[in-house]
Amino acid sequence: MTATTLLQAPNIAPTGAPLVDPYGRTISYLRLSVTDRCDLRCTYCMSEKMTFLPKSDLLDAEELDHVASAFIARGVRKIRITGGEPLVRRNVTEIMTRISRHLGQGLDDLTLTTNGTQLTKHAAQLAKIGVRRINVSLDTLDPETFARLTRGGRVARVLEGIAAAQSEGLKIKLNCVALRQDNAKEIPTLIAWAHKRDIDVTLIEAMPMGEIEADRFDQYLPLTEVHANLERDWTLTRDDHRTGGPAEYWRVAETGGRLGFITPLSHKFCGACNRVRLTCTGKLFLCLGQTEDADLRAVIRGGGDLNAALDEAIGRKPEAHDFHIDAPGQAPAVARHMSMTGG
Ligand code: 5AD
Ligand code: SF4
Repeated sequence: MTATTLLQAPNIAPTGAPLVDPYGRTISYLRLSVTDRCDLRCTYCMSEKMTFLPKSDLLDAEELDHVASAFIARGVRKIRITGGEPLVRRNVTEIMTRISRHLGQGLDDLTLTTNGTQLTKHAAQLAKIGVRRINVSLDTLDPETFARLTRGGRVARVLEGIAAAQSEGLKIKLNCVALRQDNAKEIPTLIAWAHKRDIDVTLIEAMPMGEIEADRFDQYLPLTEVHANLERDWTLTRDDHRTGGPAEYWRVAETGGRLGFITPLSHKFCGACNRVRLTCTGKLFLCLGQTEDADLRAVIRGGGDLNAALDEAIGRKPEAHDFHIDAPGQAPAVARHMSMTGG
């Protein structure tokens, strides 16, 4: 099917009852992972010898579309495509083009989180199907640090990708995981670099998800500490920008840019949670930091009632995650890696 015929496919209006969890939170945001694979191996995210799923386990484009459409019919207004690295999935543009037909018809926002390595190739197509902003994960600008942290990546490719996306008119936000040993000193440089290019930055505390080689205790850098350090040189004032997400935003007077802080460890942020995550094999995770899930692939492939399955699953959404890193050698809070659910 060509992009044009897909865009002309009929729409499903949000006709079903909204999805409301036991704590009264309405689910309006779906994060859809399209692959567990990645072309990088960030040390805090993956183990060096990650094994990936066989392709036959993955939902195909039609199945992903089916689930996305069911969520939109139940009031989801924002979909973020994630991975692993979503742009390594061969038919990612077909998947996104299909979902994009709901834009303006229930869906307000179709977006993407990427590591940026393949952006140069995809930027024009993303802009064409109606993506307006994307998140790029970037923890350092330094080529050597980047190569070490990602186990072999080239930062220059990511920077080229960011430039390509900007020249297509895509708004970029950088996600930067704060790591005591790798980028603690460089964070102000990274922020200044981004703000100069009209790119917002969100800093994230590393969460204990999945087994990795390093001890998370050594890597953990509380953002309270980063914030205090930044205030030595910069004037930070609260910005009331809200995305419905976990970040709290500040404005940096000296750069004019916006800075977000996502602090799962030092502060909880679950009270206004509006999201759920679907893995590339069709497992719906109800909380990033808990194990509750629902096998939507079994429902779809077995001809079951998807709407009933959504109600049943949302009815089990946990109240909050339970991340903590308070001693060396702790087991991860959940066994799955972030790359299963894409953040
Ligand atoms: N804790 C916090 N962030 C993580 N990411 C990957 N693993 C972790 C982790 N354990 C980040 C990536 C990317 C986003 C999808 O999640 O750097 O920005
Ligand atoms: Fe890949 Fe992102 Fe994980 Fe790095 S953090 S290995 S780029 S999925």
